[in-house]
Amino acid sequence: MRVDLEIRPDAQSLFRAGAEVFRRTASRCVRESGVFNVALAGGNTPRALYALLANDSERRHAMPWKKMHFFWGDERSVPPNHIDSNFCMAWDELLSKVPVPQSNIHRIRAELGREAALEYEQTLRHCMRVADGALPQFDLVLLGLGADAHTASLFPETQALTEMSRWVVANTVSKLSTTRITLTAPVLNNAAVILFMVSGADKAQALRTVLHGKHQPNQFPAQLIRPHHGQLLWRVDASAASLIQGEMNHDARRGISV
Ligand code: 6PG
Repeated sequence: MRVDLEIRPDAQSLFRAGAEVFRRTASRCVRESGVFNVALAGGNTPRALYALLANDSERRHAMPWKKMHFFWGDERSVPPNHIDSNFCMAWDELLSKVPVPQSNIHRIRAELGREAALEYEQTLRHCMRVADGALPQFDLVLLGLGADAHTASLFPETQALTEMSRWVVANTVSKLSTTRITLTAPVLNNAAVILFMVSGADKAQALRTVLHGKHQPNQFPAQLIRPHHGQLLWRVDASAASLIQGEMNHDARRGISV
């Protein structure tokens, strides 16, 4: 499968690249279909991307915020005002600073526990007008990569990895002694564009394994992410790419095959 991998010299350059993909995709979707549905990533990496989107006044006014609908790829089992909440982070860094209608912000109510998964499936069905038997299709899914090669809340050796019919599940993550609500691989892979953003040397081994290692998705869940029809973009910084640079020449930095 061919992916579009770009290695940026440092984190700031990486976030600028991510912001460019976000803006370009959002503008195109609103121009073509009048709406942009994006699933945000959690964790720490996207924080700087969200801040860039909110604070870059030059480009911010160009964004069709009122036509954009925000969803999440996963959420921790905490209230929305908790420091660990993926919603809280995106609200603080971005959504509280831009004119997105409140009705266009669709957070996962993970504080409800396992029933939040069913509720979020209904939210997706209602908001994205999914035909019977079809899967919701995000215009853009943002994903991060854990040092253990997890993505969203698809963690190694957890039940959610083999879920092929539900759109959203409550995934018990024993090593974190928690349950997280996560979109499943079939929904993530139905996206039109998937953008992984990976920063830091601590992700180098995971990135190398996911891109070049043996296909073992139960151990390295990010390997599950193979879009059915859409684009798979990897935007990484040089630190994260430190173990793959030797395996690529300059020309192969875009559009490598894995
Ligand atoms: C989460 C994310 C998770 C994240 C990775 C990387 O809820 O934490 O969905 O998949 O993207 O754990 O996290 P960092 O960006 O903090 O390294």
